[in-house]
Amino acid sequence: MSFAVVVLAAGKGTRMKSALPKVLHPLLGRPLVTYAARAAQQAGAERVVVVVGHGAEAVQQALGPLGVRTALQAEQLGTAHALASARPELADWDGPVVVTMGDAPLISSATLRGLAEALPAGGGMAMLTFEPDDPAQYGRVIRDGAGNVARVAEYKDASPEELAVREVNAGVYAFDAKVWDFLAEVDRDNAAGEYYLTDLIEVYQRRGLPVRAFRADDPSELLAVNDRVQLAAVERVLLERLRERWMKEGVRMVMPETVYLEPDVELAPDVTLEPGVMLKGRTRIGEGSSVGAYSVISDSELAAGVEVRPHSVLEGAVLKEGAIVGPFARLRPQAVLEKGAFVGNFVEVKKSRLGPGVKAGHLAYLGDAQIGADSNIGAGTITANYDGQKKHPTIIGPRAFIGSNSVLIAPVRIGAEATVAAGSAINQEVPAGALAIARGRQRNIEGWAARKRRASDSQEKGNSMEGETT
Ligand code: UD1
Ligand code: CA
Repeated sequence: MSFAVVVLAAGKGTRMKSALPKVLHPLLGRPLVTYAARAAQQAGAERVVVVVGHGAEAVQQALGPLGVRTALQAEQLGTAHALASARPELADWDGPVVVTMGDAPLISSATLRGLAEALPAGGGMAMLTFEPDDPAQYGRVIRDGAGNVARVAEYKDASPEELAVREVNAGVYAFDAKVWDFLAEVDRDNAAGEYYLTDLIEVYQRRGLPVRAFRADDPSELLAVNDRVQLAAVERVLLERLRERWMKEGVRMVMPETVYLEPDVELAPDVTLEPGVMLKGRTRIGEGSSVGAYSVISDSELAAGVEVRPHSVLEGAVLKEGAIVGPFARLRPQAVLEKGAFVGNFVEVKKSRLGPGVKAGHLAYLGDAQIGADSNIGAGTITANYDGQKKHPTIIGPRAFIGSNSVLIAPVRIGAEATVAAGSAINQEVPAGALAIARGRQRNIEGWAARKRRASDSQEKGNSMEGETT
């Protein structure tokens, strides 16, 4: 069965109350419009055309990676007008056309293909209807005495009796190639002053061509996004599906309803996700690893047996087997923790490699650093990597010991097994095995407290004598 799919996505989406075009609102991190476009591709459509208009350039950019065609509807005069705008991209196409809405992201490829296959052989159209929990502002499906679809009453045009109808139009259709001629018969004589695609139903019927309507079994697949409440409802459906899928693959979720994860995330069996965890982008987590409560991980790679303790934030990080981070750790892009490395609370790591067994337990900033195996980074260590213009590297050899509250002024090298005394400001190379102390020498003043006490006693006496004379 060969067919083309047109996705209508030119509208503004006024009810989102947003500066962003509706179809670009992120749904689990991906622009809304990419869902319908992908479903069309996966359905095996010969050609996919997305009609863009409001925010056309940005929408085209979002669709770029998919490689679909786009057609411009410069002025948004309604859904029938939108379909007509796709005509130039289908000028050489004389097969069936499936139309679906860019604001209905849950549509499946099977449903799109099924509708194309349901198109009457001798011409006509097919459409999908469903019964949502809330018929909201969907077009109501008006059936005649014989139970056939007579027309769709749009929300703005519907009478109170029509609004009471629970069956609504999904906005998903298959048309034969005559649709291009029939579009010319649609006018804008309605409450919205728009060219309604739904008016094609009556055009087909006037010609005595069949209109087949199918009631979908799974209404959640046809939910559209017109406001932010509906966006959240659709996101909830997608999240539930994703969580179920991963739990069936062996992932343990504590309070799963609080776990957020995006479609490109990959999880191994026996991964544990605690409440409030967010996993975004291309995050991969290996077998037996755990992510503590309220941690946010994006585009990161965690090997097996990694432990992320609560409230940690990881972005573009790589953690090898057995690494431990947190609570309250912050790993920024290109932070690499080799096997068994440990980064504790309030430690920030950016573009740095921590060798196997390296420990940075507390309160440190490690940026542009290479740290050799089994080195210990004391609390409060700072790599001063920025001179106001450029970033510079800090290279630390294996088994080095950096005392607490040291500042390592980059570019600087610290050799293997070297020790930096606590509180040092290091701006020269420390040779392997050396001890570097770079701080003011301590001086003790014996008996200082007693002297201070005597001094303040005699002053007080002076004050009280002054008191007697007045
Ligand atoms: C439309 C249907 C309604 C159906 C509902 C299903 C019509 C007239 N109404 O209503 O029967 O129940 O979808 O979700 O078709 N668009 C354009 N150009 C335009 C106008 C809209 O490309 O000029 C696009 C929008 O970007 C959107 C889609 O078409 O992705 C639907 O438009 P929208 O305004 O949301 O239509 P509804 O009122 O929801
Ligand atoms: Ca809509």
